[in-house]
Amino acid sequence: MSKIVITGGAGFIGSHIAESCAKDGYEVVMIDNLDDYYSPELKKKNIEYVLKSGNATFVHGDVTDLDFFRTVIDRDVEYVFHEAAQAGVRISVENPFKPNNINVLGTLNVLQASLEVDVERVINASSSSVYGKVEYLPFDEKHPTQPVSPYGVSKLAAEHYCRVFYEVYGISTVSLRYFTVYGPRMRPDLAISIFTGKMLNDEPITIFGDGEQTRDFTYIEDIIKVNMKLLDTNRADGKVMNIGSGNRISVNELATNLKKIIGSSSEVNYAEVQRGDAKHTLADVGLAKELVGYEPSVSIDEGLRRFVEWFRGEQITVST
Ligand SMILES: NC(=O)c1ccc[n+]([C@@H]2O[C@H](COP(=O)([O-])OP(=O)(O)OC[C@H]3O[C@@H](n4cnc5c(N)ncnc54)[C@H](O)[C@@H]3O)[C@@H](O)[C@H]2O)c1
Repeated sequence: MSKIVITGGAGFIGSHIAESCAKDGYEVVMIDNLDDYYSPELKKKNIEYVLKSGNATFVHGDVTDLDFFRTVIDRDVEYVFHEAAQAGVRISVENPFKPNNINVLGTLNVLQASLEVDVERVINASSSSVYGKVEYLPFDEKHPTQPVSPYGVSKLAAEHYCRVFYEVYGISTVSLRYFTVYGPRMRPDLAISIFTGKMLNDEPITIFGDGEQTRDFTYIEDIIKVNMKLLDTNRADGKVMNIGSGNRISVNELATNLKKIIGSSSEVNYAEVQRGDAKHTLADVGLAKELVGYEPSVSIDEGLRRFVEWFRGEQITVST
């Protein structure tokens, strides 16, 4: 069975891809530097899930170090899922150098090392943050890219490196523009996670801005399905594709829905808009449908219910 390297394999999305590949019988190598942007303990737990699922190994290391990356990527590797990044818009506003270093240099290293050993395909995690300023909705892939945060700039640069490596050097690459991803094991710095934690304890939550900003929230299962499809098709090579749910809700609606699901009496407070936050996101997923048969299947209500159930289970595990 093919060997697959997953950078950022200890993170939220990377660990789900790793788990899915390991369950399907692939030989999986997860690479991660266990960055402390959020708790490395959560990442170690993610690694444990994957190691239980099948033939997987974990290598601690940094994608910004090309020599290190060359030591883990060899001629047996067929596919690379590149998920390692400094995610998060707000931290990029505080310190634009860290996301630039990891997201741009790290991606260049992954591409270079993959090219040297003739990897079949590199599947790159990009982001809806590349769009930034809204000219029309939903965003199709032809919508202008005017990021409104240093994070968005870094993800756009990484996408261009992927395209150029395909066009100039001939290595197959695909970039997936994920729209806000949520689900079990999600990053603890994202609104759904923060709101759920507080609402379960009836603590007040804070919404930045007036809450009328909208997001296309994508359930992790749909993200994993499309990544797995890309192991079997070259139809998206050299392309960028939106991967969202194709629906959006406001942050106010999100809070109301979550309160209802949880049965919480949390108060909702409002604070100043955060710099770097996009006003709206909404994916046109037509291209991904056409090229690889992508069909988002988990509605926001269903996804939130599943997430809350998982979160409750985790709290019980932690407290016992
Ligand atoms: N979660 C979302 O909503 C979302 C939306 C759009 C795009 N993305 C992109 O998807 C990918 C995965 O995001 P996530 O939400 O799972 O984030 P995450 O932070 O959970 O995962 C990223 C992982 O990369 C690792 N990492 C960071 N720097 C590294 C380095 N220099 N070397 C090796 N590993 C390093 C981190 O330790 C972490 O485990 C990222 O590229 C992110 O930009 C995520």
